[in-house]
Amino acid sequence: MVTEFFISGSGGPDVYKGKDMRTAHQNMNISVNEYMAAVDDVMAALDKNGIGQREKEEVLFIFYSLRPDVVRV
Ligand code: HEM
Repeated sequence: MVTEFFISGSGGPDVYKGKDMRTAHQNMNISVNEYMAAVDDVMAALDKNGIGQREKEEVLFIFYSLRPDVVRV
């Protein structure tokens, strides 16, 4: 689901059919630290797979903009 979400959100075909981020994470009580841990893991995975700096910055921007819909909603 996360893969499809990123495909749809980063200019690929509109394949994501799941919930919006606020609905998906409602009442999970996710903290900023937990959110940042997930961001760190994804950035490390991008590094490991040789993804370029510009693309990594795009992903980071997506994470930054989604935080209000995931953390403590
Ligand atoms: C921007 C960051 C994140 C994105 C883009 C994301 C994306 C998603 C997506 C696409 C789903 C599936 C929604 C659906 O079922 O329709 C989901 C579910 C879920 N996410 Fe996230 N997520 C993010 C951050 C987090 C974090 C930080 C946590 C926990 C620390 C988390 C925990 C979960 C859990 C537990 C589910 C439900 C899984 C299930 O029902 O099987 N997510 N997320």
